[in-house]
Amino acid sequence: MSVQTPIKRLTAPDIAAKKGGEPIVSLTAYHAHTAAIADEHCDFLLVGDSLGMVMHGFESTLPVPLELMIIHGRAVMRGSSRALVVVDMPFGSYEESPQIAFRNAAEIIKETQVGAVKLEGGARMAETIHYLTERGIPVMAHIGLTPQSINVMGGFKVQGRAKEQWKLLEEDAKAVSKAGAFSVVLEAMPEALAKRITKLVPIPTIGIGAGKECDGQILVMEDMLGLSPWVPKFVKKFGAVGDAIEGAIGGYAKEVREGSFPAPEHTYAMKAPQKKVARKATRKR
Ligand code: KIV
Repeated sequence: MSVQTPIKRLTAPDIAAKKGGEPIVSLTAYHAHTAAIADEHCDFLLVGDSLGMVMHGFESTLPVPLELMIIHGRAVMRGSSRALVVVDMPFGSYEESPQIAFRNAAEIIKETQVGAVKLEGGARMAETIHYLTERGIPVMAHIGLTPQSINVMGGFKVQGRAKEQWKLLEEDAKAVSKAGAFSVVLEAMPEALAKRITKLVPIPTIGIGAGKECDGQILVMEDMLGLSPWVPKFVKKFGAVGDAIEGAIGGYAKEVREGSFPAPEHTYAMKAPQKKVARKATRKR
């Protein structure tokens, strides 16, 4: 008898099948608690290597190690049950060769049980994307502004603003799609270019700073919640979580200092003393 349980989560093919349909909704997630909240609203959750900057205070995503992606990947899997979870392959874990990429992607999948990985790069990563997908690892590609290449790009710069750059980006999108990627993130590019790419490729495009013509959208959760101290132009703050945290912590500090917290309702009382029940002595004969 089989002990397999049916897959409850959305899968990479489920996301691919959403091309041209209702917009795909996704967010980054790094820990169990927020993943649990986002799970019912999102088609997929991305454990982005942006966690290096958002959660760990690095200036870029470059220092993020594989182990950190695995730790956060596990947490997001524990917190969610419905959305596909995708883990970013960090800088240095996949560029050298398809074989090294496979080894590291397989470690991510084995250790976290997520349903797909994401890696940055267009045509130059096509061979690797093909190698991974042929061996059972669904890949989400990422083109346009690729934060792991900031030292080559000269910073976090919008891509494709000049028409001459469009051809290369279109070729990138075609190459990753042909190589077997199940979707592609388009980061920081003019809407007109993202629209062209979306029409050009048969896989869903997921926009971040790429306008509304993509097949889906993604944002860094802390940015849209209003928790990040600085956000790029393309982010809309849907909440004011930073202000809420500030208010709550300020209130706590004030009450501790003035002695009004903890109040009696937050304090444990002693147990009432138990009445002693006299035991009958029984003797077996
Ligand atoms: O790391 C990340 O959060 C990402 C998104 C910006 C797409 O790659």
